[in-house]
Amino acid sequence: MTQEVTIGKSDVTVSNALGLGTNKVGGHNLFGDLQDENGYALVKEALNSGISLLDTAFAYGNGRSEEIIGDVIQDYDRSKIVLATKAAHDPSKNGEFNNTPAFLKKSVDDALKRLKTDYLDIFYIHFPDKDTPKAEAVGALSELKTAGKIRAIGVSNFSPDQLKEANADGLVDIAEDNYSLVHRGAQQTEFPYLKENQISFVPYFPLAAGLLTGKYGPEDSNKFKQFSQKQYQTITSALDEVRNIANGHGATVAQTIIAWYLKDPDISVVIPGARNADQVKSNVAAVDVNLSQSEFDQIEQLFSSF
Ligand SMILES: NC(=O)c1ccc[n+]([C@@H]2O[C@H](COP(=O)([O-])OP(=O)(O)OC[C@H]3O[C@@H](n4cnc5c(N)ncnc54)[C@H](OP(=O)(O)O)[C@@H]3O)[C@@H](O)[C@H]2O)c1
Repeated sequence: MTQEVTIGKSDVTVSNALGLGTNKVGGHNLFGDLQDENGYALVKEALNSGISLLDTAFAYGNGRSEEIIGDVIQDYDRSKIVLATKAAHDPSKNGEFNNTPAFLKKSVDDALKRLKTDYLDIFYIHFPDKDTPKAEAVGALSELKTAGKIRAIGVSNFSPDQLKEANADGLVDIAEDNYSLVHRGAQQTEFPYLKENQISFVPYFPLAAGLLTGKYGPEDSNKFKQFSQKQYQTITSALDEVRNIANGHGATVAQTIIAWYLKDPDISVVIPGARNADQVKSNVAAVDVNLSQSEFDQIEQLFSSF
């Protein structure tokens, strides 16, 4: 397994830098053809394999992901699990983002009920809203921390300026944003500030929603319309090179890509999502793929245009 990670300035430690993303656990509103049984099985597989951080949100199935996780963790030692959840989508306003102290406090109480626990290890404001001053929203989370309902304060999808505003009183422990080998903006815009302010970073979409597993070929470019044809070609060619590196380790492309994040000191915990227990089982083996520094640099170079 990997080295223990401390989350920001909090007392939360994560025993394994490989966590689990759970938007396909109960996330029926986001993805078609999901089965709850697969969700239950994959969360169990993760916990049985030594994963400790589970990343969920109200928005994944409007609470269903949290409910499934809440059911599963009843059979495990809660003190060994790091539960991270998020809220901002206000069901009473058609899912509009709401960061008011009253809404955030109610969201935490509701999440605790669905997760069937009496504390959250990490609570993120899922998205910034338009009106609430960021430091006021974070101030509400600080009160929840003092009350023992949450242990670490997170923000997600905040711009660099919004992050600075949110952290005006130095209270933010962790940020979660879109970041992967094919989406590297945060490296320039966020990482220096995060490091200076002892804020942990968790990238979401680490596998670029499956693209970086290497399972898609040139014929699948229309599934990834955010990339131009030229960019898509660059990615598939780069993945062919990653496959060579993977072969040298007896590993898959997905495992090698996950191992790349695990070696990056700027990343605290990597949370690849999964559709079923087999994917989790395979992804967990990434912790045994020890990339050399030159392989790490080579992979970074392959994606340097992103
Ligand atoms: N804070 C935010 O706003 C935010 C936004 C998005 C996500 N997140 C979090 O970040 C997590 C990670 O993002 P993500 O799950 O959307 O994307 P991801 O980790 O980039 O990709 C996960 C997807 O890749 C495919 N996959 C994973 N392992 C595989 C394997 N071994 N072999 C083949 N395919 C595999 C699966 O999809 P298929 O089988 O369907 O191909 C899986 O659902 C989420 O689960 C969620 O917890 C947070």
